[in-house]
Amino acid sequence: MVQLTPVQLAWLQEIGMDRRQLQPYARRAEDVSAAAPAVSAQGPQARRASAEGLRPAAELLAGQSAAAGAARPDPASGAARPPAAAPAARKLAKAPAGVGSSGPLPLDWQALQDHVAACEACSLHTGRSQTVFGSGATEAVDWMIIGEAPGDRDDRLGQPFQGKAGELLGAMLRAAGVGPETPVFYTNLIKCRPRGNRTPKPEEIAACRPYLQRQIAMLKPRRILALGWLAAQALLSESSDLEQLRGQVHWLQAEDGQRIPVVATYHPASLLSRTRHKANAWRDLNLARSV
Ligand code: URA
Repeated sequence: MVQLTPVQLAWLQEIGMDRRQLQPYARRAEDVSAAAPAVSAQGPQARRASAEGLRPAAELLAGQSAAAGAARPDPASGAARPPAAAPAARKLAKAPAGVGSSGPLPLDWQALQDHVAACEACSLHTGRSQTVFGSGATEAVDWMIIGEAPGDRDDRLGQPFQGKAGELLGAMLRAAGVGPETPVFYTNLIKCRPRGNRTPKPEEIAACRPYLQRQIAMLKPRRILALGWLAAQALLSESSDLEQLRGQVHWLQAEDGQRIPVVATYHPASLLSRTRHKANAWRDLNLARSV
C-alpha cells in the first residue's frame, strides 16, 4: 500500500476526508490527526504540500476499481490512454445557426477576450458587471478547469471561482499535487453571470460555446476537468447523469482535431453540502492527474 506524507494527509482531512478512510495510507497512525489542522489556503503548509509533490496518481488508484471504460495507465509510459475500444473523441457540439457569436472568432488570445467582453449574443449581457473570460496560465496549460457560470462575486471581480466553492476547489487541487506552480486555466461554460445564480439555460450555453471551443483550441490543455453535471454533459454532449460520466476518461476533439482527455467530477459547490462525495471527487482528481 502506498503511503501519504503527513502534509498530504493533512490536506485530505482539510478538504473533509474522513480519518478512517485515510488511515490505511498513513505511515504512522498518529499522522492522521483526530481533528484536521487549520490550513490556510496560501499558508506554508500549502506551499510545502505542493513542493513535496504527491506520488503518482496511478499508484493511488492501484487497488481501487476504476469505473468501467476508465483509461488505464500505459505500462510503457505510465500515462493513461484511451481504452482499447475507446469511443471516438467527441466534438464540442456547435451552436445552432443564428445562436451565439456571429462571424469568425479572433485567433489571438487578447482579441478573443475583447470580443467576449463586447458579446451581446444572449440576454445575459444585460445583467453582467463584466464578462468573466477565465484566468490562469495560458502557456503549456496542464489543467483546464471548466465550471458552470460566474457567480455574483466572480461577476464583480471579473475572475472565476472567487467564492467558497473556489476555495474548496483550490484546496482539493493542492491536495492532489496541483500547486501554485502548475499551469492551470479556469473558466466556465458561460462567461456572464446568470442573475440570482440560477442554472444557465441551454440557449445561453449554446451562445457561449464558440468561445469555450476557441479557448480549448488555443490553450491545448493536457487535460480538462469538468465540474458538475452541466459542464460534463455540455462538453461531452452526453445526457447521462454525473455518476455515469465521472470516474472515467472521456476524449474531446478540439477544433483543430487534437484529442484532449476530459474527466468529469462533482462541482465543488455541491461538495460543500454533500461532503460524502469528496472521496469520489478525490479519486476523479487523481484519475485526471494520471492522464
Ligand atoms: N464560480 C465559477 O466561476 N464557476 C462556477 O461554476 C461556480 C462559481
